[in-house]
Amino acid sequence: MADEPIAVDGDYHYESDSAYSPDEFDWQSTDTTSIGSSIYQGLISNGRRYQSLRNKEYIIPSDELQFETYEAGHLVDMILNYHKENPLFSSPIGKNPDDSMNILDIGTGKGTWAMDVADRYPNSTVRGVDLYPPPVVWTPPNCVFEVDDILEEWTWREEFDLIHMANMIGSFDSSEWTNLYQQCYNKLKPGGWLEQFEIGPFVESDDGSLPPDSALASWGRIIKECGERAGRCCEIVSTMSSSIREMGFVDVHERVYKWPIGPWPKDERIKEAGFINVRHWMSGMEGWCMWLLTNYGTPKPWTKEEVYVFCAEVRNEIRQGRYHCYHKA
Ligand SMILES: C[S@@+](CC[C@H](N)C(=O)[O-])C[C@H]1O[C@@H](n2cnc3c(N)ncnc32)[C@H](O)[C@@H]1O
Repeated sequence: MADEPIAVDGDYHYESDSAYSPDEFDWQSTDTTSIGSSIYQGLISNGRRYQSLRNKEYIIPSDELQFETYEAGHLVDMILNYHKENPLFSSPIGKNPDDSMNILDIGTGKGTWAMDVADRYPNSTVRGVDLYPPPVVWTPPNCVFEVDDILEEWTWREEFDLIHMANMIGSFDSSEWTNLYQQCYNKLKPGGWLEQFEIGPFVESDDGSLPPDSALASWGRIIKECGERAGRCCEIVSTMSSSIREMGFVDVHERVYKWPIGPWPKDERIKEAGFINVRHWMSGMEGWCMWLLTNYGTPKPWTKEEVYVFCAEVRNEIRQGRYHCYHKA
């Protein structure tokens, strides 16, 4: 329930709790191995690797550090939903693991969601599509990964029972979103479901512990404004359900979660999610903001070094753990 405050663990002291020590994170580590093909090599910019398939820049890198981020984000989602019979998606299909479904995962990233769904439904086929090849060495036999631009005309013959996408924030301009939703609509079976999960950029606190002049409080505003200047809305979390309705989808439901940043919540499950979300932020934040800030930062595009300094400030605030903060998802 998004509007209910998360109860705070009053006994918890961040700096002295080794179980949740942020020092184990190695957020500076990157490992960019070239594997021959130009698709794998991608484009290197500001020390990060970006996809090279689409003739238009995508704002977030496709490299090991970002794949680690996707893994951590998936884990937070799983922890917050683990009490559900099916923590992987909310659409009311696939009640029986023997069900045979056609499922598409748009912007599959590391491919973890697609592989988990394929494992859960061995009689179903799960396709994961991305601009950059998912870094997988083994996939369940019913999981297929394809490297393609989802904005091109879809050539799949089959229709889908479920089309899923997660964290596509900042990927598309408004006409591209319309194109994408339209293709989803056209390629769903009658009674099929589109499920979209997005993270909001704004960091908030319910108890006033997050100072308005903190780097964390400024994060959402900065990302949102850069996204607007880039023509790629970074706050689709607040507009996607109306965009989906406008495309003609019916029976639209929206659920808002609070993802704590830090193990400050009292509830053990939410505390665990907050701890993993720290890892998610530590590995993710540079990749989330580097392209936006070095291209659309104000008063002029930021240098790579300025981005490093900003990220270091955000990181320090997260490590200090003084703020009972969260973002919506
Ligand atoms: C932020 S990542 C999210 C990955 C994954 N869904 C997750 O939640 O962990 C967005 C992914 O969408 C992919 N993507 C962006 N634009 C795309 C396009 N036009 N066609 C296919 N994939 C795209 C990116 O390459 C990236 O891997």
